[in-house]
Amino acid sequence: MTLIRIIKPWQIKVNQITPPQVYFNRRRFLRNAVGAGIIAACAPLNACKQSLSESPLENTLNLPKINSFKTNPAFAQVDRPITEATLAGQYNNFYEFGGGKNIWPKAQSLPTENWRVEVTGLVNHPQTYDLDDIKRKFPLEERVYRFRCVEAWSMALPWVGFPMSALIKAVEPTSQAKFVRFTSFYDPKITTGPGFHLGKLPWPYQEGLTIAEMANELAFLAVGIYGRDLPKQHGAPIRMVIPWKYGFKGAKSIVKIEFLESQPATYWNTLGPNEYDFEANVNPDKPHPRWSQATEKFIGSGPGLTWEIRETLPYNGYGEYVASLY
Ligand code: MTE
Repeated sequence: MTLIRIIKPWQIKVNQITPPQVYFNRRRFLRNAVGAGIIAACAPLNACKQSLSESPLENTLNLPKINSFKTNPAFAQVDRPITEATLAGQYNNFYEFGGGKNIWPKAQSLPTENWRVEVTGLVNHPQTYDLDDIKRKFPLEERVYRFRCVEAWSMALPWVGFPMSALIKAVEPTSQAKFVRFTSFYDPKITTGPGFHLGKLPWPYQEGLTIAEMANELAFLAVGIYGRDLPKQHGAPIRMVIPWKYGFKGAKSIVKIEFLESQPATYWNTLGPNEYDFEANVNPDKPHPRWSQATEKFIGSGPGLTWEIRETLPYNGYGEYVASLY
């Protein structure tokens, strides 16, 4: 596959998408050291070209097929083509493995064997599931969702997983539970982050929803994508997908889900409270303090990593499902 990097005037630079304190530390690091590899938005082209010709990227994506799922007819397609798997699999955000987009090689060190997800807190039936339990207990379905990152790029992705409402039913939150916190895998020996030069980051990556949001029909836990197990760069083996919110709300590689009385602190909201709010619903009328959210760069139809401008829709086009929550 040929990769063409077409840089347009509307392309957001790395210094625009990263909270200032992180960006400025990164600048200092770049001045002092050989950090070029961490800024994927500038650097991935050569790496990707080389990798694709040797096919290691495809190897990270060609995982076992998931046999037992149905396509949910309500979410069988969206208003745009599904993003190619090789594009989605090489353009990721996973800060545990670096601050750029081409983290897919580093993410392969994520240890996914014997994975456990603890579901705990204000529930009548706390549980610790392994992946087999999850796949057996919750009927899996495929849903194509639009995916909108706060950085103003977007994709259309076919997830395989199950609605979060099924988990709520299984663990029965008590009446005190008002919020839910999702915690990602963290081991500083493995998830080395964008670099020690950035100072203290609020690991582990955590995200949160209200119970009503989690119970919404759209809120989803994905164990697969493109009909196969979830690649590590997409947050294997289980991640959140909340299609009406910016992509950062979808914590990857989840190890813990806790039902709480009060709103939990979350990763990006802690790092940049003026830039990344807890609610984080996609909203074209509310610009990010440093860029507009009115349009998005849709990565989908190729060739390669080329982008097409689309208008951003309120709630990412899912208002009929979620507007009544707000
Ligand atoms: N989850 C963890 N644990 N760490 C991260 O850095 N990045 C978030 C979200 N979940 C992130 C994460 C952001 S900013 C986005 S846009 C999406 O993952 C990207 O998902 P993708 O790489 O599968 O497209």
